[in-house]
Amino acid sequence: TYVVTEACIKCKYMDCVEVCPVDCFYEGENMLVIHPDECIDCGVCEPECPPEAIIPDSEQTAEAWLEVNRDYADKWPNITRKGETPPDADKYKGVDGKFEKFFS
Ligand code: SF4
Ligand code: F3S
Repeated sequence: TYVVTEACIKCKYMDCVEVCPVDCFYEGENMLVIHPDECIDCGVCEPECPPEAIIPDSEQTAEAWLEVNRDYADKWPNITRKGETPPDADKYKGVDGKFEKFFS
């Protein structure tokens, strides 16, 4: 599976949603997550994300995020179409420590 990581928080460009063939993205207020049991590992979303928030779970940094993706995919609503990117998304691109401050 692929997972969405911290770089998505407050960026939420949603280009990923448009290309996913199985619609396995779920939407929180500040970020999206991927449902690990629904993702078919195709990898097409990975290069679409401007801040490179999407990584395969084989990467070391993905471990903690896999749990976050799994937990919140069960709680948040499914998203199948790209919505409006937050107007200040570019301001938060590449910023560290977003999880502590803005995760919701
Ligand atoms: Fe969807 Fe493929 Fe990305 Fe998984 S890897 S979330 S199936 S686009
Ligand atoms: Fe987030 Fe990147 Fe998708 S910023 S919403 S994972 S395109």
